[in-house]
Amino acid sequence: MKNCVVSALCLLLTSAVAMADDGLLARGKQIFSEQAQPSCAICHTLSDAGSTGAIGPDLDELKPSRQQVHDAVRSGVGVMPAFEETLSAEDINAVALYVATVTGGATD
Ligand code: HEC
Repeated sequence: MKNCVVSALCLLLTSAVAMADDGLLARGKQIFSEQAQPSCAICHTLSDAGSTGAIGPDLDELKPSRQQVHDAVRSGVGVMPAFEETLSAEDINAVALYVATVTGGATD
């Protein structure tokens, strides 16, 4: 009985975490394709988002870490603009998690 309660609780917790991640990933994808201005999709190739931009590096090949995406988006790199003024900290976190997750980059 005790085991049952514990595992039911674990299951509940695990799915809550998974749901929170799913929400963040969906939001990240939307920011990548639409919300960021100019949109990341114009400049970057990312197969999960169906984008083929070629001004910046191909993100499927680069497989950037979450931290790398975060820093690039917040402060800009080279001709890539900074998004600090136009995206909230949560938006930047969401797009960083999204890009690292779908490309297989480090997410910690
Ligand atoms: C106007 C075109 C443009 C837009 C818009 C743009 N990027 Fe970039 N991005 C670039 C270019 C160019 C580079 C390479 C800069 C360099 O290395 O000099 C780059 C580099 C990067 C890198 C690699 C950084 C590194 O550490 O090497 C990541 C990750 C990235 N962009 C993600 C994004 C995301 C996510 C967005 C949307 C929020 C975005 N970019 C929007 C042009 C763009």
